[in-house]
Amino acid sequence: MRKILVTGGLGYIGSHTVVELLAAGCEVVVIDNLNNSKVEVKSRIEDISGKSFELCIGDVNDSEILEGLCAKHSFNGVIHFAAHKAVGESVDNPVMYYQNNISGLISLLGTMEKYGVSNLIFSSSCTVYGAATDLPVTENTLIQKAESPYGTTKILGEDIINDFAKHKDFKSILLRYFNPVGAHPSAKIGELPLGVPNNLVPYITQTAAGIREQLTVFGDDYATEDGTCVRDYIHVVDLAKAHVKALSYCDEMSQRVDLFNVGTGKGNTVLEVINTFEKVNGVKLNYSIGPRRGGDIEQIYADTTKVNKLLGWSAQYDIADMMKHAWAWQQELKD
Ligand code: WQD
Repeated sequence: MRKILVTGGLGYIGSHTVVELLAAGCEVVVIDNLNNSKVEVKSRIEDISGKSFELCIGDVNDSEILEGLCAKHSFNGVIHFAAHKAVGESVDNPVMYYQNNISGLISLLGTMEKYGVSNLIFSSSCTVYGAATDLPVTENTLIQKAESPYGTTKILGEDIINDFAKHKDFKSILLRYFNPVGAHPSAKIGELPLGVPNNLVPYITQTAAGIREQLTVFGDDYATEDGTCVRDYIHVVDLAKAHVKALSYCDEMSQRVDLFNVGTGKGNTVLEVINTFEKVNGVKLNYSIGPRRGGDIEQIYADTTKVNKLLGWSAQYDIADMMKHAWAWQQELKD
């Protein structure tokens, strides 16, 4: 039985990954500072999986807490989600992002080294590709200077892990997420955006629920089929399953560090997402076309050949499933 430490395990992607780890027979310990999650998520994860796990409420920047956990448990691996992830917020508050995201990773790496824990799965992002011109992007697509401090923390995080792994008995897999959306089919866990959502799908569901007045589509004058931006939206449960596959691969891979694009390989425009949401849920969405949002890239979607082949993983849910589950979760929240 593998014992896995999950940092940020009560968060959006973290909670769905804990469900899949428990289903795969792993023993799980979560450390979460509840900065962007709620403690009741723990019991909801346990309801879904029928299994329990240990929760430590704390911050990965607190190496004393991390050392306490590593002294108590002999972990076979770590999945590191604990980080700030709002692009706009990172522009307004870069120091908070570097402090939390970079120092947190360094604290984790130092503790893993001290206690001889290898196998780190790192939460990276397609943001590292910036405005790639050659689509779909592969893992060899050139990294471009990030458009935000958030993106810089992902690029730096990958570099730090690569440098760290060079001379250590340590292995890591970097997962470059595309756009995680949707919620668990049980509607017991999902995204809990604090305040006004930055991202498209929570804004759609909150508009449909009457929490927001109207959705603004940020620009319809891009060189795409309907003028709105294209993204590779991936169901959060599919993304969670990719982490379980990555842990197994980490054990057997020969190199120290490897990286994978984790997307569906399919792009959808903003209007396609809206139309699909309306169609599968039988609701009319109040939206208008507004000006472009600064920093948005026109289109990006993944080449998933490598992850399909080496991890034996591919996305199973389509955009209709994502919209159905996102809406079911929003309605659960409203009740
Ligand atoms: C998607 C599309 C918007 C809101 C960001 C991060 C990325 C990852 C996912 C963490 C864009 C349009 C959005 C709205 C809109 N986060 N949109 N109206 O910007 O692709 O990616 O979140 O890993 O790293 O960069 O996601 O959901 O904000 O935007 O028209 O109210 O929806 O213009 O085209 P994005 P998003």
